Amino acid sequence: MVKIAPSILSADFCNLERDIRRVSAADWLHVDVMDGMFVPNLTVGLPVVRSIRAHTGMFLDVHLMIHKPARYIEQFAKAGADLLSVHLEADHPAQIAGALRAMEDSGVKKAVALRPITSSKAVLPYIEQLDMVLVMTVEPGFGGQKFMESQLDTIREVRAIIDRYNPACELEVDGGVNARTAPLVIEAGATVLVAGSAVYGAEDPAKAIEALRR
Ligand code: DX5
Ligand code: ZN
Repeated sequence: MVKIAPSILSADFCNLERDIRRVSAADWLHVDVMDGMFVPNLTVGLPVVRSIRAHTGMFLDVHLMIHKPARYIEQFAKAGADLLSVHLEADHPAQIAGALRAMEDSGVKKAVALRPITSSKAVLPYIEQLDMVLVMTVEPGFGGQKFMESQLDTIREVRAIIDRYNPACELEVDGGVNARTAPLVIEAGATVLVAGSAVYGAEDPAKAIEALRR
């Protein structure tokens, strides 16, 4: 069954503990870290991940939208992340490989993320060692954007690469996922769905989570 990872980007940060409790029916918790450089927005960082860790046992799926992420892998692992995603566009390949090695050494699960412009083939040098590939279906930076239908092809291509080289690898889709688009991305091969506004914008987040599973 597909996993649902609500994004706290759409939560009320003054009531974060309450808003994390509201999505306890989900499988993972998605934390969007933005640096104002790799993306034109700033969100949360290490102290917030540390505090979240102290208040929940949920699996923490931390999406690093930051420039040169290798600098921070060990610290995010120590802060309590269970999985880290680094963007392939955020540094040179040798540095991305270094970030993945740091994840291995720190005992966190390893993922790479693709902006919509990036070819599915960019995952090939890393695929055998990955626990997850994250395909963006909006330009990273903001919640509440419209799902890019053209990314369904990228999801299908990444699905084929995963099936061929590393079938246990998860395929996460992030951006504009809601009850209408969820079946499309599941059909294309996604195994983990991130949803911010579709979950936190709903009157009943638990119901919204169940609606995404179908
Ligand atoms: C966007 C973030 C997403 C965001 C998704 O850059 O990576 O995780 O929270 O929000 P929705 O589900 O509203 O598109
Ligand atoms: Zn995200």
